[in-house]
Amino acid sequence: MQMQMQLQSRSLLWLFLLVINGLGGNAYRILFMGPFPAPSHWMWLEHFQRDLLKRGHEVTSINNHPTKTPHENLTEIILNPTFDIPKHFPKKNIFSMRFASDFQNLQMWWLIGQMTTEHALQDVQVQRLIASQDEHYDLVILEQFFHEAFLMFGQKFKCPVVTIGTMGYADNMDHAMGILTPWSVIPHLLLPHTDQMTFTQRVYNTYLSVYDAAMRRWWYLPRMQQIAEKYFGAAIKGALPHVHDLERNISLMLINSHRSVDLPRPSMPGLINVGGAHIQPAKELPHDMQNFLDNATHGVVYFSLGSYMKSTDMPPEKTAQILQAFGKLKQKVLWKYENASIGQLPANVMISKWMPQNDILAHANMKVFITHGGIFGTQEGIYWGVPMLCIPLYGDQHRNTIKSVREGYARSLVFSKLTVDDLVRNIEALIYEPQYKRSALEVSQRFRDNPMHPLDEASFWIEYIIRHKGARHLKSQGAFLPLYQYLLLDILGCVLLALFLTVWLPWRMLRRVHRWWSMAAAKAQAQEVKKQL
Ligand SMILES: *[C@@H]1O[C@H](CO)[C@@H](O)[C@H](O)[C@H]1NC(C)=O
Ligand SMILES: *[C@@H]1O[C@H](CO)[C@@H](O)[C@H](O)[C@H]1NC(C)=O
Ligand SMILES: *[C@@H]1O[C@H](CO)[C@@H](O)[C@H](O)[C@H]1NC(C)=O
Ligand SMILES: *[C@@H]1O[C@H](CO)[C@@H](O)[C@H](O)[C@H]1NC(C)=O
Repeated sequence: MQMQMQLQSRSLLWLFLLVINGLGGNAYRILFMGPFPAPSHWMWLEHFQRDLLKRGHEVTSINNHPTKTPHENLTEIILNPTFDIPKHFPKKNIFSMRFASDFQNLQMWWLIGQMTTEHALQDVQVQRLIASQDEHYDLVILEQFFHEAFLMFGQKFKCPVVTIGTMGYADNMDHAMGILTPWSVIPHLLLPHTDQMTFTQRVYNTYLSVYDAAMRRWWYLPRMQQIAEKYFGAAIKGALPHVHDLERNISLMLINSHRSVDLPRPSMPGLINVGGAHIQPAKELPHDMQNFLDNATHGVVYFSLGSYMKSTDMPPEKTAQILQAFGKLKQKVLWKYENASIGQLPANVMISKWMPQNDILAHANMKVFITHGGIFGTQEGIYWGVPMLCIPLYGDQHRNTIKSVREGYARSLVFSKLTVDDLVRNIEALIYEPQYKRSALEVSQRFRDNPMHPLDEASFWIEYIIRHKGARHLKSQGAFLPLYQYLLLDILGCVLLALFLTVWLPWRMLRRVHRWWSMAAAKAQAQEVKKQL
């Protein structure tokens, strides 16, 4: 009897799966590319890849990190060797760096972009894919970072392209979809301003944005084009399109942004916000960590500098200061520290080289998250409503930190000036002053309030693009208009010309006629007077 029921429910399940598959339509072949070597980028991107595999699609993946969850329909092309970022941009400099200028930051991204793109395209397996004759893909997915030469894969396989923007919005994404970013209310990607900018902030914002747009278009993209031509020139018949045009041919952009924490901005149907896509329900922790957290009657402080910067790279005197500060706390401290031989640990501190961050932040005893202010960690802190102490180091971390502090759920410290007292004082403020927790819970509720999980939304739109062969209707013609038409400068010119012809010119002529008339009249009068004399 019981067995029968079991069988029945099993076949019901099969039926259900069949129906789902039938509804879900076809399995597609997708080329998924995350050539940038920083682990945090790929950790985020892999969530999208995993979901596509779960939905039955076949994925070929170009990236730097062999998966820990192999799948029969996943083919990996692991870039070998991986681009060595620290060799070109030493980590030592990062810890001592305050703000690099915004212009230096932009130049650094462009430089890293060119180096990592070329590096990835030199890979033997990637070159084999470029040269392949009989491969077919329904869609190409690329991280929207600084690797525009990879857009050529869309051309190579004659299929639509979707990009995933890890760092949030940039002006060039708006342009590719057909809107011009309004610099009056939208600060540049690197700036921490709100949409209420003072005059000087708007001046600077405009200056930086114009610099970015011009340098990108006339310096950076031409270099990308050279790289693209070098590696795709032989494989694609005919003249290669310009990467600038390929960019405007991107069908959909999935962007790491969320309405609850990022500024409202004009959008297009092809720009989809998927901030929080990586956050999953909490799973069970490893036994020792679970015990450690469960037993923390005064709560827990969790410290991680993320996946790129290692705590072991810190100068030893900082490590000592941090340990000394942690030793003074009543709370227990979990520290993502990558070397077991750290020396004497205070009794309340536990280190581990690997931390299931999402599950730790979800724990009820979590009090404070000490973070470098990276975007993914910040979003996890927000999701779980944990007040944060941000110690930003580079890239977008300063921007994220300033935003978090402004919203009231975080405080910040400068790494190079950090002292024991500072650390203790700031941690305790975050724990004992209730406004921080209150703000954290408020923003958490906003961040969780979604019509559907952002990851499901992302996969829906990805499949939508394949179903509708690029879905050109998601983008405005604005992407293809010349700037003078977009800004109506031609119409303004016509209006000015019309005004000139109908008002200014007749007026001048009338005046001239009038003057001539009155001069003639005066002359006649004078003659009359002369005659009478
Ligand atoms: C792998 O792909 C095949 C063919 O598309 C499909 O039938 C199969 O269900 C997929 N496997 C998994 C585990 O999704
Ligand atoms: C734009 O993408 C479509 C596929 O979605 C492709 O057929 C077309 O050739 C592309 N155009 C350019 C200029 O790359
Ligand atoms: C934590 O609590 C559990 C159960 O209360 C106990 O068995 C365990 O020994 C405690 N662990 C520590 C490290 O105090
Ligand atoms: C770990 O620390 C020990 C002692 O400080 C040091 O000798 C060793 O090189 C470190 N290992 C790594 C991987 O940093």
